[in-house]
Amino acid sequence: MFYYSDDNQFCLYNGNSLQILGQIKEQVDMIFVDPPYFLSNGGKKIQGKRIVSVDKGDWDKAISVEYIDKFNQEWINSCKPLLKDNGTIWICGTFHNIYSVEKCLKTAGFHIINIITWQKSDPTPTWGELHFNFSSEYIIWARKNPKSKHYFNFELMKQLNGGVPMPDVWKLPTVGMWEKTCGKHPTQKPLRLLYRIILASTRAGDIILDPFAGSCTTGIAANLLGRKFIGIDQSQDYLNLGIKRKLDIEDPYRLDIMQKHIAENPEEVTVLVNHARRETKAKMIETGICYLRAGDSQGSLCVTPGFERLEYVLLHTGGEDCQLFKLKKKGCFQIWTKETLELHGFSPSHATYYIVLQFNNINKSKFKVSYNLKEKINTYRARIRPLSDFLDLC
Ligand SMILES: C[S@@+](CC[C@H](N)C(=O)[O-])C[C@H]1O[C@@H](n2cnc3c(N)ncnc32)[C@H](O)[C@@H]1O
Repeated sequence: MFYYSDDNQFCLYNGNSLQILGQIKEQVDMIFVDPPYFLSNGGKKIQGKRIVSVDKGDWDKAISVEYIDKFNQEWINSCKPLLKDNGTIWICGTFHNIYSVEKCLKTAGFHIINIITWQKSDPTPTWGELHFNFSSEYIIWARKNPKSKHYFNFELMKQLNGGVPMPDVWKLPTVGMWEKTCGKHPTQKPLRLLYRIILASTRAGDIILDPFAGSCTTGIAANLLGRKFIGIDQSQDYLNLGIKRKLDIEDPYRLDIMQKHIAENPEEVTVLVNHARRETKAKMIETGICYLRAGDSQGSLCVTPGFERLEYVLLHTGGEDCQLFKLKKKGCFQIWTKETLELHGFSPSHATYYIVLQFNNINKSKFKVSYNLKEKINTYRARIRPLSDFLDLC
């Protein structure tokens, strides 16, 4: 064993996965695999203003199509006995490897549940004018065999998607600079992607294996969500980077920064958190109208890009007595005058114009406040927060 953390939650092996997988005795609940895609074939991309190579390293170079198939079949066959009967496997790829992976999975008797398309919201420009810009990756999700029963947290995925079933196209950004403060891996996966995968398919306390762990993104996400991690990589340098990342999240200050970044997914459904005095709040709920001053003051709302993802309003009084409601129209607001609000029974006194959001006042939406509304200096300031701040994620 290369590393075992003091909290027993992060365990690393160094060497060739094809050999090490056969030595692992423990069965796991989920396997996440980000294998070599074999795309290091001299392609080019644009970085800043420079044209640079896409090559990742010798481990990503393929000798032949037969070599790719043989390699994929070998690690898939070695993973299967390590997966519990109700466990699932997720495997990433692009067209370079994903069709081979799919064939090998079926050959090994796995049953494909979904193929997720990860649409990168901030793709790197690829060089050349003979093709569309490469901006997506695929992630195959499969269970051990057609008859096994797998775990899927359908409800949580639905809630994270604003109350409608989560589709199989996920728009998420690529890995951010804030995830690279301990060092860089050439093909590091974003933590937000691993968060979604882990939340969808595992429970707190589960064991997750990653046979091509690299900088251990899977392990960091797993531990942040209370799951145990086993990782393998042939490179000690990459594993050392993973250990650095693990130690980084043990520092409460760094952990707090990291969790805030993860929560602030620029593609996630958002909530307007709005204070209103008790009587005004009751009137808002009665009419389904939430208003804020239009202007630069504590009770006003800054409409910035991302407002189009606003789907909920959370009403509270001084940080207490919270209720969550769904907007009638996502990301939509009106500007009303003081007089128009008076016609609806309100008595606004602070401004001439108000931002008005209309919500469905019949059904209160279920939620659990994990976000501390009182923690902030000013409880009265309206703010827009990701929906995941208000859900029980584990
Ligand atoms: C696509 S990267 C994984 C990146 C990782 N998901 C992350 O976020 O950092 C694939 C990794 O597989 C490792 N690798 C390639 N062939 C291997 C093998 N046969 N055994 C073990 N590791 C291998 C490489 O060193 C590389 O770090």
